[in-house]
Amino acid sequence: MTLAFGTGPLAGVDLASPRLHAERDLTDVWQLLRDEDPVVWHPAGAGGFWVVTRHAHALAVYRDSETYTSKRGNVLATLLAGGDPAGGQMLVVSDGPRNLEIRRRLLRAFTPAALQDLSERISRSTLALVQAAVDRGGCEFSADVAEHVPLAAICDLLTIPEPDRRPLLAHARACLAAESPDATDTDARLARNEILMYFARLAMRRKNVPGDDVFAILLQLTREPLALSQQELLLNSYSLLLGGDETSRLSLVGTIEALAEFPDEWQRLRRGEVSVDSAVEELLRWTTPAMHSGRTSTTAHELAGKSIAAGHTVTVWNSAANFDPAEFAEPHRLDLGRRPNRHLSFGHGHHFCLGAQLARIELSALLHALIATTDAIELTGEPRRLYSNFLGGYGKLPVRLHPRRAE
Ligand code: HEM
Repeated sequence: MTLAFGTGPLAGVDLASPRLHAERDLTDVWQLLRDEDPVVWHPAGAGGFWVVTRHAHALAVYRDSETYTSKRGNVLATLLAGGDPAGGQMLVVSDGPRNLEIRRRLLRAFTPAALQDLSERISRSTLALVQAAVDRGGCEFSADVAEHVPLAAICDLLTIPEPDRRPLLAHARACLAAESPDATDTDARLARNEILMYFARLAMRRKNVPGDDVFAILLQLTREPLALSQQELLLNSYSLLLGGDETSRLSLVGTIEALAEFPDEWQRLRRGEVSVDSAVEELLRWTTPAMHSGRTSTTAHELAGKSIAAGHTVTVWNSAANFDPAEFAEPHRLDLGRRPNRHLSFGHGHHFCLGAQLARIELSALLHALIATTDAIELTGEPRRLYSNFLGGYGKLPVRLHPRRAE
């Protein structure tokens, strides 16, 4: 069956609209698309984009960076606006051998061994934040706990001084998603400029200061044959800050919502009947903070019987593929022991998330902290979803963590 957005069962469905993702549960839409028209054209303005919803097709797109390039951008907002100005300069929107080499160098800062000290700091600080939330009785989990963890981690990795961190967080928030439907693109652009200017000042301050943190690796790359330009240095620092902050925060907040919604699964985890590692993967699948990845077709070709022209925008919806019953048995059941779990929350292939290990460490720290301190997790108000067509999850989550009783 060929479906058409805006009519029939897809009436009122505009995937580019942030409001749609905040206000409507899309479970039935994704199911319909996966079943009936898994690669479908979505009109938008004078153009449009392809929507890919099955896990197998998503893998095919992620794996083939020659046919599906990231160079013009990797999120709908920039692709629909004509392309990302950072294309070819920022890792996530570049392709080719030079890009792979920059990625290889940066990956050194993200190995489990390199992250060991940071991992211990994250465990300690997360436990303190969760314990404080338990002691207080009630909290707004996003502001009181979740937003402190990823920002501190990525700022540690980039060695950003303590007093600079709060303002950077506020700008990062404004760049990607919005907690209100009224936020404008201008707000986002201004915030992005503030962050870039901050990193320019930091580069001046750090010019002659040796180090092995991620910012030092990037600075070093500006002096080597790879010759990372000043602009590339700033854009990649910006990308690390953003990639590392909002998505991780959303996975932490979404985790609390999921554990409150499925108390039996939480108790299985608390009692040690499932491992924290498998729970982390399932919660990443469940929360899918990066709802889509965008690509541009470099050549006319077919995908699932559809003719895709060169230059067309192709969007892979992780939020649909992560619930594809062809890949995940009973996908709408949270199963913290699920194995295997080939979720696409970190993407796949050439652009697989650089910070995946760090994000897993943060989520694992949260689960260990909950197990140590908390008996029951109770939502005390309506969770509020973000207004974004890219970031999926909750901006606010009022919750009560009931203290663990002595056993
Ligand atoms: C790439 C999701 C955490 C840095 C990606 C991609 C996804 C993703 C889906 C692939 C984008 C594409 O294919 O176009 C997530 C999620 C996270 C998370 C869901 C948390 C739960 C982090 C953290 C960092 C980070 C903590 C950094 C400290 C990056 C970077 C890339 C990337 C630099 C680009 C890699 C490349 O293009 O080679 N992430 N991310 N992410 N992520 Fe993450």
